[in-house]
Order: sequence, then structure tokens, then C-alpha cells
Amino acid sequence: MQNSDAASPLAPEWLAVPEDVNALHAPMWAEDVQRTDDGELAIDGVPVSELKAQFGTPLFVMSEGDFRARARSFKDAFDAAFDDICGGVDVYYAGKSFLCTAVANWVAQEGLRLDTCSGGELAVAARAGISGANLGLHGNNKSDAEINRALDMKLGRIVVDSLDELERVAKIASGRGETAKVMLRLTPGVHAHTHEFIATAHEDQKFGLSMAEDSTEAVGLSAAEEAVAAATSYPNVELLGLHCHIGSQIFEPDGFAVAAEKLLGFLAAMQEKYSIVLPELDLGGGYGIAYTPADTPRPPAEIAQAMAAVVRSKCAELGITSPRISIEPGRAIVGTSTFTLYEVGTLKTVRVDAPVDADGKENVTFPRRYVSVDGGMSDNARPVLYDADYSAIIASRASDAVPQLSRVVGKHCESGDIVVRDVYLPEDVAAGDLLAVPGTGAYCWALSSNYNYLARPGVVAVRDGSARLIVRGETEEDLLNRDMGVANV
Ligand code: LLP
Repeated sequence: MQNSDAASPLAPEWLAVPEDVNALHAPMWAEDVQRTDDGELAIDGVPVSELKAQFGTPLFVMSEGDFRARARSFKDAFDAAFDDICGGVDVYYAGKSFLCTAVANWVAQEGLRLDTCSGGELAVAARAGISGANLGLHGNNKSDAEINRALDMKLGRIVVDSLDELERVAKIASGRGETAKVMLRLTPGVHAHTHEFIATAHEDQKFGLSMAEDSTEAVGLSAAEEAVAAATSYPNVELLGLHCHIGSQIFEPDGFAVAAEKLLGFLAAMQEKYSIVLPELDLGGGYGIAYTPADTPRPPAEIAQAMAAVVRSKCAELGITSPRISIEPGRAIVGTSTFTLYEVGTLKTVRVDAPVDADGKENVTFPRRYVSVDGGMSDNARPVLYDADYSAIIASRASDAVPQLSRVVGKHCESGDIVVRDVYLPEDVAAGDLLAVPGTGAYCWALSSNYNYLARPGVVAVRDGSARLIVRGETEEDLLNRDMGVANV
């Protein structure tokens, strides 16, 4: 394998020229993705050319084994770390990251519960036969229909987001002569993203009940406390406990630890003041994954132990029995299980001004290769929405060519339609090559659209050497079947 080790000045600092442009950086891929002896990418032994032939591209390709293993590893690691504290942890898979009936089933089979955030997600859970006791419902603006559906399905918890909603849930439950099991979502003033967290701000958001003392009209009473007092007084509400979610794609455990301490302190104060017991505390999701070699996620056991140490010592300090802890990972379970398979089409190279080259010369231009694929922002909106970085490799073959700075773009009528902003691909990448983008299991299919009337791709699950559709791709007929037709004009 040749290597041109001169990094392009157009490349971001974190992106190194790969020593081997065919190599898979293990943290970004499902466990069972490998190159075969002839250089093609295969998942659990199934080569991508077979997947292409059977299902077409673009295609979400998911390793069932990898999903299950990550689900289990969260459950096992948190159970082990919290065993002596609260007898284990309830892990709710965050369905918003990716949900279909097959996945809901795997979640249940691996001993996890399911976190939903809409009536539609509840419908998937119901279709999959998940027991209501193992479901939670989130959302800052739940409709009455969604609250009724949650009560119909006898949900284990409704995570109430505001004082308004608490009143509505109480009223609906009372009208039905039933009791709603409720958690209160609080904003602990901790906001974390990747390596950083801010422990003072972030009241200014739509989610949750503020813990700040001046957050309601009632002097000295936070919205969170007002909600605890109200929930305790409603006969048709059973207040299970408190909840928070501090952000997403977080690597360091510090933010979780600060949030846990704050919520435990508040929980202890409320138990004392209102003579109640709050048996549950949910610390949300947000555990990060590797999208590029620059991302360095920690294993679940490490996060679990760090969080357990904080809960253990804070409960001892407060002199309380720890509530039962729950967490809600989404991305960290499904993200790495999946890659998107695309076919390469149009290629072009542009020359781009770089301000200063390696020798300090100005007005030097450098090449950037544009590699167009047959999907784009309709199957992965994250680069456009969040400036998210991804990586890519040629999947249909290995290459001996030198790495060249490339930008993988979609086929949409939009110049921002970028799939992978910066990646070194072999110089001989050509139309007809299959390209794989790893780490697309979370918030890609879930956020997909029909922009430009592109059909949303299907999702295949691979297990024991065979691939099956778990969500079929859309057809042209699907695209047209809600259009009421010219006869109605
Ligand atoms: N629990 C709650 C209450 C949440 O709001 C979320 C994510 C999760 C759990 C799961 O978080 P995870 O473990 O998957 O990070 N679309 C964005 C992420 C939005 C996250 C929304 N809430 C993205 O693609 O980065």
C-alpha cells in the first residue's frame, strides 16, 4: 500500500492521512465488519456486493449482533456498577435514535426497556408487543391523545416536562379513574457536549422544569419544586421520581456526575420537606460514539463505574437510600451497529485556495475531490443539521492508490448536501465503486426525508451470515401514494 503522507492543507487538523486507506478503524465499525481476502467489505461474512445486488443502494446495513452486544454491555456494565447501590439499573433504549419493530424486539430480548417520545413511537412499541410496563414516554408537548394512549397501554412512566403538562396528565388520569405513573424532567443547569460541559447555564431551553429558585412566580420556589408539590397533591398521579438528560455525544463522565449530584441533592430535600419517597432517578442518555478517528468514546463499564462512585458517595453524604437508577442510551447502542452503503457516481476535482501552504507560500491552490453518491442529506441530515463529521471507505474493493483528500456529497439540489466533509479516499475511486459510511445507526434513518422526491432507503439486518430487510426501502409508488392526484384539483 502506498502512502502519500503529505496532509492536504485543506484538511482539518484532526484528520490524519491514513497509513492504509483500506484499513477499518475498529471503534467506528460493528464488530463483525471486515474485509474479505479479496479486499471487499463484508458484514458477518456477507459481502457488500451481495447486499447491493439484493437490496440496492443507498442502504442502511445493520449488524444485529453488534446492536445486541452493545445493548447487553450497557445493561451488564451498569447493573454490575450499581448492584450494591440500588440493585442494578433499568436501561431504556432511546427509540428516537432508530426504531422499528425488529429493534424493539431485540431491546426487550436483551433485557432493556424502551424510551419513546411520541404516539408514533408508542405505536411501533405496541406493534412489537412490548409490555407497557417496560415503556417510558417523553416529549415537551404531548397531546391529550398521546397521554391517553400512554394510559391505555399502562405505561411504566410518563416523563412530565412542565407544570402545564402535569396538570393535564392529572386531569386526564382522573377523568379515566386511573393513576398515571409520572417522572419529572428537570433541567439541572448542566449542559454537556462531547468533551465539554457547562455547569451553570442552559436554563434557556424548551425542555424540563427549572431547578433555579427564581424560576416561578412563587418566591423561592423553583418550577421543579412546584411540580413535586403539585404531583404529590394529585390523587391520580403517582410520582415515581426525577429525570434529567444533559446532552448528546458526550465522552467524559463529569457532566453526568454533576447532574447526578444535583438531582440527588434535590431529591433528598424534597423527600424531607414533603415527607415522600421518590424511588426512581433517571440520568438520561447521551453517551458518545466514534464517527471519525478523532472521537474517543469510553467503554460503558468505565462510565458506569464513574457514575456509580458519584451516586454512592452523594447518597452517603445525604444520608439517603439511593433511588433506583435508570439511563436512556440511544446512539451508543445503535450508532456503530450500522453503516450506509452508497454507490459512487459523478466525480470531479476542484482547486481550492489555501491561505498559506506548508512552506508559507501564499496563493497556492490545492485539489479537493468531490465524490457524489446516490443518497445524501435525505438519508443523513446530521452533517447539514449539526456540522457532524463522518468517515468513509471504498467498500467494494481494496485499493493500492494514494490517499486523496475528498468530500463525499449527495445528489440533492443543495450545495450544503454533504455526507462526509473531509476524508482521504484512494485516488482511483471511480463511478460504480461502493462506498461505506460507518456510524449511521443513530439519527440518520430516524431523521430521513423525501427531499427532492428521493425514496428513503431500507434497513437490512445481518445475522448469522444472512441479511434480511427489517424496514423496506420506499418505492416510487410510496412517494406518490399520498398525492391526491389531478382529479381532485
Ligand atoms: N433521553 C432523552 C430525554 C433524550 O432527549 C435523548 C436524545 C436521549 C435520551 C438519547 O440520547 P443519545 O444517547 O442517543 O445521545 N439528533 C441529534 C441528537 C438529538 C438527541 C435528542 N435526544 C443528533 O443526531 O446528534
